[in-house]
Amino acid sequence: MSAISVQNLTFAYEKQIVLEKISLQVKEKDFLAIIGPNGGGKSTLLKLILGINKIQKGTIKIFEQEPSKKLSLIGYVPQNTNINIDFPIRVIDVVLMGHVPIVNLPKKSFFKKALRWRDEGETACAMGALGQVGMEEYAYKKIGSLSGGQRQRVMIARALCAHPKILLLDEPTASIDVDGQKQIYDLLKVLNKSITIVVVTHDISVVLEYASKVAHINKKLTFHDVSYQANFQKSNGHFCEVEMMQMLGAQKGCSC
Ligand SMILES: Nc1ncnc2c1ncn2[C@@H]1O[C@H](COP(=O)(O)OP(=O)(O)OP(=O)(O)O)[C@@H](O)[C@H]1O
Ligand SMILES: [Mg+2]
Repeated sequence: MSAISVQNLTFAYEKQIVLEKISLQVKEKDFLAIIGPNGGGKSTLLKLILGINKIQKGTIKIFEQEPSKKLSLIGYVPQNTNINIDFPIRVIDVVLMGHVPIVNLPKKSFFKKALRWRDEGETACAMGALGQVGMEEYAYKKIGSLSGGQRQRVMIARALCAHPKILLLDEPTASIDVDGQKQIYDLLKVLNKSITIVVVTHDISVVLEYASKVAHINKKLTFHDVSYQANFQKSNGHFCEVEMMQMLGAQKGCSC
């Protein structure tokens, strides 16, 4: 059974077609990297998988089920997480929000809900999720006192809180330094032993070092199994994106 099955999906915002005839199979325990240019449709695809955007043409199945915001099979770490770090909320409260779908929640009710869902069982579960990302000792600190990398670990813990079988992350390391990025991806690698990982990234080294599958999306999708390609070429000590993209068979207009 596929963890995620996308068949012949076409999606448009009003008249602008953003995704065209996309098909994709993600198997259990895959580590899929979704790459592609800004505006290529990556976040849109994730929102369709999550049931945030409504399917117009084609099908998506998550472990044979229709996408829905209520589906706890998927944990989601959104792009540009908009937590107000000045708000005096603790790490544990942020993680507890993982029990409820937070997508499209207005900011005020976002925090109210966080505070309401604090009972003992759920707190234990949230502590477990924090343990999984190595952040247990920060549970009662203010979210605003954490570094960007630590905050992102907390967001991953929040996504893990409902014990998902799939973790979707939309550019989880966008504003994190190189060491912090590596720590996050090493963490995802460990989680990948039991959870299917789908990560949108602009970081080609992720594709090279961590992913088993790659989907390049620019309205259309090209899919590549890279699990058997151990050694990509390097150029002057850094990975050569053009060579890699040629190897993957996708069009990419940049130089290195
Ligand atoms: N809610 C929306 N309403 C109308 N158009 C949208 C909406 N969300 C995205 N778009 C448009 O759809 C296209 C794809 O956007 P999307 O956010 O999926 O791209 P992306 O690949 O995630 O880009 P990035 O790498 O910049 O995050 C863009 O042209 C964008 O302007
Ligand atoms: Mg995006």
